[in-house]
Amino acid sequence: MADGLKVLVTGAAGQIAYSLLYSIANGDVFGKDKSITLVMLDIAPMAEALKGVVMELQDCALPSLKNVISTTDVKEAFTDIDFAILVGAMPRRQGMERKDLLKANAKIFVEQGQALEKYAKKTVKVLVVGNPANTNCLIALTCAPSIPKTNFTCLTRLDQNRAQSQIASRLGVSNDSVSNMIIWGNHSSTQFPDAAHASAVVGGSTANAVEAVKDDAWLNGDFISTVQKRGGAVIAARKLSSAMSAAKAICDHVRDWYFGTKGDKWTSMGIYSNGSHYGLPENIVYSVPVRIAPGGEYTVVEGLKISDFARSKMDATAQELLEERNAAWDFLPT
Ligand code: NAI
Repeated sequence: MADGLKVLVTGAAGQIAYSLLYSIANGDVFGKDKSITLVMLDIAPMAEALKGVVMELQDCALPSLKNVISTTDVKEAFTDIDFAILVGAMPRRQGMERKDLLKANAKIFVEQGQALEKYAKKTVKVLVVGNPANTNCLIALTCAPSIPKTNFTCLTRLDQNRAQSQIASRLGVSNDSVSNMIIWGNHSSTQFPDAAHASAVVGGSTANAVEAVKDDAWLNGDFISTVQKRGGAVIAARKLSSAMSAAKAICDHVRDWYFGTKGDKWTSMGIYSNGSHYGLPENIVYSVPVRIAPGGEYTVVEGLKISDFARSKMDATAQELLEERNAAWDFLPT
């Protein structure tokens, strides 16, 4: 078996983690030939529940799972890790202002950013899932200045998968017939799912998705709002937020980051914006299309033609991220 990886999942007693941990431990993310040390962090009140998850992982008897560490101690959790999947966050409770949510989560991601800085390998790759994911990711990377900013990403793959599935279903083709969907911006209701550069295989030939769908009113209206509001629709129906689909998207994101994207395909992820792509502001974490080389180095897909409609949507979600950053910064240590 090839050299092992030490992978941390936070929020490990939560519902996304319950759908996610098996896939990581089973080799569905990093490959069956990689031995995995799985580190699971949650808060002290969840320590007992974590024990149950450990027992279940042991009972799966998986060949690629070398070791399981469950802990409520941040130092133990972050020491020498290769990958950090930061799912744990304070959920938004009824009556809670967005500002209060930002404050509670800023505290968590300051602590975890500092722990990355102190204890993780300098090559660690970090995926932030806990909401508000983009701004939490910005906080974590700011608190870990000795780790390259490019090693931090946030999850918008669930939004991309949702958009891909909407187009596939509209065209009556399989999900894998649709590729190169883009999510621009924030993982929130201002995100811009953009089908203009996507391809679809219909009847054996490849076409631009917009030309295949032939319904601009739907593409510029219901398609966008369905993807933007999908998380809320799942909560309304299930009384719980998306967990199975979020876990699947995390696996897709991390697998592509580890093994690379294939051929001309790209994927969307939230990355640190240094101000040099598509006129986006500097110092926010913004979702863009990237191509990834095996091993994880990614490059932003350049040269896509941006319509006036797309520009206004991209700017609106950037504006929301600037506002979130400014609100969260009030809660950071000086
Ligand atoms: P959950 O409430 O079932 O689990 C969260 C877990 O995190 C709990 O076990 C909690 O004790 C733990 N936790 C809280 N503070 C922690 C800390 N400081 N350190 C370690 N663990 C901590 O929530 P669920 O459904 O698993 O969702 C987790 C997060 O993922 C939420 O913020 C949710 O909004 C977000 N999410 C993001 C998506 C994305 O696409 N970016 C998609 C779906 C959910």
